[in-house]
Amino acid sequence: NKEVNIKELLKELSLSEKIGQLQQLASTFFIENSKGELTGPLKDLGISEDEIWTAGSVLGVNSAEEAYEIQSKYLEKSNSKIPLLFMADIIHGYRTIFPIPLAIGCSWNLENAVLCGQVSAKEASLSGVHVTFSPMVDLVRDPRWGRVMESTGEDTYLNGEFGKAFVKGYQGDLSSPYNIASCVKHFAAYGAVEAGREYNTVDLSDRQLKEYYLPSYKESIDEGAKMVMTSFNTINGIPASGNKYLMRDILRDDFGFEGVAISDWGAVLELMVHGVAADDKEVAYKAIEAGVDIEMMTSCYNKELEKLVREGKVKEELIDEAVLRILKLKKELGLFVNAYGAIDERKAKEMFSCDKHREAVKKVARESMVLLKNDDVLPLKENKRVAVIGPKGNSIDLLGGWSWQGKKEKIATLKEALTNRLGENLVSYAEGCHIDDNDESGFTEATRVASESDIVILALGETSEMSGEGGSRANIGLPGVQEKLADEILRLNKPTVVVLFSGRPLEITSLSAKAPAILEAWFPGTEGSTAVTEVLYGDYNPSGRLTMSFPYAVGQIPVYYNYYNTGRPKLPDGEETRYISQFIDIPNEPLYPFGYGLSYTRYEYTDLKLSSNEMTKDEEIVASVKVKNVGKREGTETVQLYIRDLVGSTVRPMKELKGFKQITLEPQEEVIVNFTITERMLRYYDMNCELVSEPGDFYAMIGSSSENTHKVKFELV
Ligand code: IFM
Repeated sequence: NKEVNIKELLKELSLSEKIGQLQQLASTFFIENSKGELTGPLKDLGISEDEIWTAGSVLGVNSAEEAYEIQSKYLEKSNSKIPLLFMADIIHGYRTIFPIPLAIGCSWNLENAVLCGQVSAKEASLSGVHVTFSPMVDLVRDPRWGRVMESTGEDTYLNGEFGKAFVKGYQGDLSSPYNIASCVKHFAAYGAVEAGREYNTVDLSDRQLKEYYLPSYKESIDEGAKMVMTSFNTINGIPASGNKYLMRDILRDDFGFEGVAISDWGAVLELMVHGVAADDKEVAYKAIEAGVDIEMMTSCYNKELEKLVREGKVKEELIDEAVLRILKLKKELGLFVNAYGAIDERKAKEMFSCDKHREAVKKVARESMVLLKNDDVLPLKENKRVAVIGPKGNSIDLLGGWSWQGKKEKIATLKEALTNRLGENLVSYAEGCHIDDNDESGFTEATRVASESDIVILALGETSEMSGEGGSRANIGLPGVQEKLADEILRLNKPTVVVLFSGRPLEITSLSAKAPAILEAWFPGTEGSTAVTEVLYGDYNPSGRLTMSFPYAVGQIPVYYNYYNTGRPKLPDGEETRYISQFIDIPNEPLYPFGYGLSYTRYEYTDLKLSSNEMTKDEEIVASVKVKNVGKREGTETVQLYIRDLVGSTVRPMKELKGFKQITLEPQEEVIVNFTITERMLRYYDMNCELVSEPGDFYAMIGSSSENTHKVKFELV
């Protein structure tokens, strides 16, 4: 019942039942015919029938009906009758799919993450899910890594803010059955895999780890995230899933995390593949000692922990602590009151197609698109003949990775959305080429169709499979012959806009030199096509800003805005000299920087001021700037505050985002935007890796992107 005393409950469990609570299995283990892809080095888990009915949690249930069936079968067969926890990857929506998280980040609107969390939680809880493996707050600086689509980008502060917002959306106060618990991942620094190659090695200084990579996990934990997932990678030679320093010293001791730590899929057994454990027994020992509570989809705990306890190598208290954390979460989620939670097949189906959720995903999609270039092509004029050209033009592959419950066959393609808007007579279409092969035979037809139109929309990009887990790419240009197709079409000199659908910043330097307009639409979700048309025709004035730099060339990667100056920085006046930190063949700067994005109006920044030019550690100062909409349409601007510490005991970045505010202005309207600068914002990890602020000079920089700011100096005294 509600008052179940989990400590008493623990005492009633046998050691093997306790160990069972630490086992997570995919739904396929509990019922036949449940779909699910098995990944990683697992062929046979070696799980006995009895062990299935002691497992503590389920991964990836497919429907309310299936969740109900598994739970009831489990409660009938299990001895302990402790309800199962159902967990799944609900990353940007359950059935009604939001844009990918990278896109949500580009909206710079934290409410969008809250909304995504709430809508996802409602649909998922009705379908029997209790925990989502989200948010993914890994800092990302390498667009070759496919998983950048799941993050909110390259900035520590922004990722922390978005992490909190997602947690808030999913969990609320967990008092409602329509909330789900949030599992923040991947602990830690998975985003720093070498060369962006999936599952690869991470080697980071402690300062980099603490200053840039760890804070976003901490923010989500402080917001109350109930779970943390380990990462697949090694850090400084030790795999994260067997890493005591990470999991005990940092996560438990420094961060004070009291929730449940789960391994990534198969990551416990992978300690052996990494070569830090010789057999299942050593694997189990290292993982439990390091602090992994739940083993996802391998069974070393089940096979070996009991022996390790009997031999006195692992203390039973360690297992008890892990089990208690799991039981506590089950209690908080109300499972001891009602093992079936919010499961309701009928209500779930009503939610899936409801107007409210479709409106929510459309709103977020509109706000997350980034207008990268516009030479007077956009917004488009109605009543003109439009040719939609390109492999993304009539494609339903618009949901992106991690949308396993999304129904792409039910969404409108871009061509369909345009036809809905303009009528059949005004819209023509030619695919031109496929996403990723060398077949140019469609070029002639595409050129013919384009030449008969007034306006061309070139819909280009990647498939969903090209990003997400296992989706690293070494070449991040447009795949196949898409750029060649673009060349053919652009030669017609029609007003042309390129709409890009991608899970990462692409290398588009040559395309961007030729195309008059480019809109980055990412994978925009269930209502994505309609949202694209609303942006193209100006119903919505684009307001997205990049949260990840677009590289000028792959050879620049990692390229990010908060870099160090180096001892030989490139000279601002462009003076030619060889012996400076530069590439001799390309600029140092990315093609499009962090914080960048255009609008159909323009904003003017003037009168940057500080309330005082100095502050003590106990004081705050206010930086203010006047922002005016000097264009002809209403628009939403993201005003960004960056700070630079001019002299530190270790090197400080050229700028760091410390705040941002979104304002909506009518034409000619102006407002004063204020930012409070506190001593906390000036802290960093010093020579001894202590978090400190040091007296000295700082710049406060305010502007519309990381490369377009006004600055003013102040002193911390
Ligand atoms: O949650 C994911 C994780 O991000 C990558 N590996 C599989 C997990 C469970 O599906």
